[in-house]
Amino acid sequence: MIYLADSACAEAVRGLIDLFPIEGVTTNPTIITREKGELSALLTGMRKTIGPDMMLHVQTMQTEACAMVREAIALKDALGGNFYIKIPATAQGLKAIRLLKQQNIQVTATAIFSTQQALLCARAGADFVAPYVNKLSDICVNAIGVVGEIAQLFREFSLPTRILSASFRNVDQVNQVALMGSHAITLPVPFYDKLIYHPMTDLALEGFDKDWQGVYGEKKPGDMI
Ligand code: E4P
Repeated sequence: MIYLADSACAEAVRGLIDLFPIEGVTTNPTIITREKGELSALLTGMRKTIGPDMMLHVQTMQTEACAMVREAIALKDALGGNFYIKIPATAQGLKAIRLLKQQNIQVTATAIFSTQQALLCARAGADFVAPYVNKLSDICVNAIGVVGEIAQLFREFSLPTRILSASFRNVDQVNQVALMGSHAITLPVPFYDKLIYHPMTDLALEGFDKDWQGVYGEKKPGDMI
């Protein structure tokens, strides 16, 4: 499963990719507004930070298909590299996805709340579909079940579209969508600390350290071999 950072903060992403196996960055309009910066500087700064090979997903703010396509071309030209335009799962969005694929622009269909939205976007040619897991749970929908249905139908109909799950509140949701076959997930930068942390790991390391120091003191294996 591909891990992505849901962030518009280049500094935070730089720290994350130094440590974690991250393959790209997703943004959305809300995440961008939180940075309160000039858009061009924010996004070009992010591209510079992650380099040309990592995915960068940026959402259109247009609502009509041809305007979405024009915006996607402008963003792709400005940001270059491995670029994905995020297109909302609307009727105009479906048309935009088809037009964008004719121009070989990579597309993530976003704001997915149902299996049928995902299937339609996949048939239109989306490279990724992004179901919003916790936002579904918040309205009492079995979000993990929705991701499972999407994965099942993509397999059933041999669709190449991949699932990029977004919107999480806890590690269990992440684990459950992974088990359902989500191909990718995107998480805010601080969430990755929750994903790697386990108190038993810390306890195990404390035990090793105590035993080692009792015999060899501060010397490390590399100093002694
Ligand atoms: C999609 O772009 C975002 O990852 C998603 O909206 C985040 O959802 P949240 O606001 O529930 O964290």
